Amino acid sequence: MNILAIETSCDETALCYIEVHPTETGAAFTVHSNITHTQLEHKEYGGVFPVIAKREHQINLPLILNQVMKDRPVPDYICVTTGPGLEPALWCGIVFAKELSAKWDVPVIPVNHMEGHILSVLVPNTHPSVSAPLIKMNQGFDNTFSYESNALQFPALALLISGGHTELVLARAIGDYTIIGKTRDDAVGEAFDKAARLMGLDYPGGPEIDRYALQYKDQEKPTFPRPMIHTRDFDFSFSGLKTAVLYYIQSLGSVLTEDQKAAIAYEFQEAATEVLVTKTKKAIEHYGAQTLIVGGGVSANKRIITGLQTMLAQEFPDTSFHAPARTLTGDNSLMIAIAGYFKIQKNPDAVYTDIKAQGNLEL
Ligand code: KG4
Ligand code: ZN
Repeated sequence: MNILAIETSCDETALCYIEVHPTETGAAFTVHSNITHTQLEHKEYGGVFPVIAKREHQINLPLILNQVMKDRPVPDYICVTTGPGLEPALWCGIVFAKELSAKWDVPVIPVNHMEGHILSVLVPNTHPSVSAPLIKMNQGFDNTFSYESNALQFPALALLISGGHTELVLARAIGDYTIIGKTRDDAVGEAFDKAARLMGLDYPGGPEIDRYALQYKDQEKPTFPRPMIHTRDFDFSFSGLKTAVLYYIQSLGSVLTEDQKAAIAYEFQEAATEVLVTKTKKAIEHYGAQTLIVGGGVSANKRIITGLQTMLAQEFPDTSFHAPARTLTGDNSLMIAIAGYFKIQKNPDAVYTDIKAQGNLEL
């Protein structure tokens, strides 16, 4: 079957066209085209501005569609992200999908964005992807990977970390999820972005803090809290960490030197990593997880990935670890196509009516 997938939940306008064939042991995927356009227009505002996101999605969707559909037949299904995300942004993708559905007489399959992040790990790490400013997006390529039905052992635990979410999800099978813990205030990516802003760094702040932390070399550094690290539940809190950064910068009382930025970035990243790793460890233990999955924009952070891998090697050597390919950590449509495929496969005759944006949709 051929699938066109559309993702517009935040500030990425992403479309892809894939072909999937079930095999005896799983499925064979061919990615014919996969384009992710990151809207750079938000940079000057230091965060995602919904009105601008909507405007840019509306401008870019038809342009990217032309590229993605080049030399391709009408797909059998259109998969679209319906939530969670920014509602004005989600609606752009949904309305676009519905228009194409009417034009081509093809069903629309609603897909949960967070399930997409979980299943993004099914794409091998070596998979190339296109992530480029719009003007450069002329690449179309054929790329094949296979899925084996025993690739993920269940129960699995997914740590989803992005600018909008911080969640621990228990997966009993593909399509069967329970959120067992989440942030009570800021998402971890949001905390990275806010801390970076306090330090005078660019948006998005996650990669900036990551970069500065690497420059830390034993200078004097602050000590930040590890919020909720000892609570018995699997919830998180990151707003206190950001406030600690604010107070520390105020206490220094002058413009930050490069050394001070490196020390703050290092300690911030250590605190965030320690909390994420500790809560994940408790959850693996509690649920006997056979597999640990990490996904979302913050999973591009090498320190967090290494922290999780070290913890697994020491405590749960039999639990396998899956992180997305670097180009698929952030929002993309390939993960939506994959999640859509499994949804179609599970329930081929389902008819989805009343498809609408659900900003706070849970798994
Ligand atoms: O998944 P994503 O692209 O969008 C959503 O929020 O859904 O995640 C974006 C977030 C931003 O907060 C960004 O600062 C963070 O991911 N991020 C990182 C890194 N790269 C991106 N955070 C920490 N370290 C990184 N290397
Ligand atoms: Zn996301």
